[in-house]
Amino acid sequence: MSFTADRLLLFGATGDLAQRMLLPSLCALHDDQLIAPELTIIGTARSEYDDDSYREFARAALEKYLPDFRKGAIDGFLGRLKYQTLDATQAEHFVNLADEIGTIDKGMAIFLSTAPTLFEPTIAGLEQAGLTGDKVRIGLEKPLGSSLATSQEIMDAVARAFPEERIFRIDHYLGKETVQNLLALRFANIMFEPLWNAAHIDHVQITIAETVGLEARAGYYDGAGALRDMVQNHMLQLLALVAMEPPANFDATAIRDEKVKVLRALRHVDLGETVTGQYAKGNIDGAAVPGYDEELGSDSDTETFVAIKAHLDNWRWQGVPFYLRTGKRLPERKTEIVVQFRSIPHSIFASRGAKTVPNQLVIGIQPEENIQLTLMAKVPGLDRGGIRLHPVPLDIAMDDAFAGPKKRIAYERLLLDLIEGDQTLFVRRDEVEAQWAWVDDIRAVWADHHAKPKRYASGSWGPSAAVALTERAGASWHD
Ligand code: BG6
Repeated sequence: MSFTADRLLLFGATGDLAQRMLLPSLCALHDDQLIAPELTIIGTARSEYDDDSYREFARAALEKYLPDFRKGAIDGFLGRLKYQTLDATQAEHFVNLADEIGTIDKGMAIFLSTAPTLFEPTIAGLEQAGLTGDKVRIGLEKPLGSSLATSQEIMDAVARAFPEERIFRIDHYLGKETVQNLLALRFANIMFEPLWNAAHIDHVQITIAETVGLEARAGYYDGAGALRDMVQNHMLQLLALVAMEPPANFDATAIRDEKVKVLRALRHVDLGETVTGQYAKGNIDGAAVPGYDEELGSDSDTETFVAIKAHLDNWRWQGVPFYLRTGKRLPERKTEIVVQFRSIPHSIFASRGAKTVPNQLVIGIQPEENIQLTLMAKVPGLDRGGIRLHPVPLDIAMDDAFAGPKKRIAYERLLLDLIEGDQTLFVRRDEVEAQWAWVDDIRAVWADHHAKPKRYASGSWGPSAAVALTERAGASWHD
């Protein structure tokens, strides 16, 4: 049922995500009048606040994370906020919450980011308090389980109260403008699609490199590791967008149908097709940083780096490796997709001494949003000693191409879609399950072989085995 919610209920309203992303995003949407004046935002968490003290809490977060924002805009936004203390294990607390929310006849959107153990009591509490009716939709933030089985448990609990069309599973990478731009690049241009297959593409690389380490997330991260934290969700969604067949329409069902086919075509991965690492001490941007164990305060075998040579068993991609790589404490923050085309079938220039280099398309997702296509061109000259060819980049910086429109952060887009009920950029249950099935299978291979992550110096590109992974096949990472 289509409706625009006039209540937004935020679980985890005092958490890090709320402070850094959700409140600033909502404040920006408010300032641009993209949310209706009647939208009331009810925050809830265990901390003891009332409406006024929560507004002060929110003000501090906004002043920190939106330092340049007009004070007047922040004041106006704070007027939308209410707060109700809640312990999700106490059923009666949901009754107080329902009182605070008031009528939900127009519709309510819930943003649930909570510890996995609290999912079931939270859903049950919402249900008992009458907060799960036809006009309520729920957004779910990760971690949604740590394996296929545990994710299914959570999904079953949610499905008892909400049908799939009112469940919005968040993968914040889908809210990023450049990630959506992948669809425009592939399906709004004629020149890529005919080449977008095994006949013309040699391999694809997807890198999500971060310079940060454990941050203050030891409790979650040490139990998760890079494979479950980054590959299971963000990287596989990027891979699905790169590899999917053209959907018939730009709508949630058509796009998600095509993505899930890709995710189900992921081939079993052997041990030799994966590399895991854990950062040791080193240097990031010239500053010394400690190793993972030291930050954690104990020894651990959790991987902070993973590289995988993946394959898709379908017609389009047969024989094309998809190299996936993500890690913390790498030399730079960079998310990019590299499409390496094959060599031309025959060079007319070979007899004149010129070498050709295969074309390459680099899609920069962050921090810079750009699209770079390298083409071969003739070096100017009279060519007495032979023809010389050289790769030159055709470079589009999105910031320059679209200097006018305001840049939005992913959660602005996703929160607005949640409030208005557009599921296109949210992940469907069958996609999540296909992602977990593949990741569980890799973890089982590691467990069978007692695989342990190799140490790499912070500030390096991971263990040297990651370089060998591509070079064995004649490829090299785009660093
Ligand atoms: C999160 C992971 O999902 O994504 C973090 O849990 C990671 O470990 C973050 O740092 C990266 O997001 P972004 O948007 O900064 O690339």
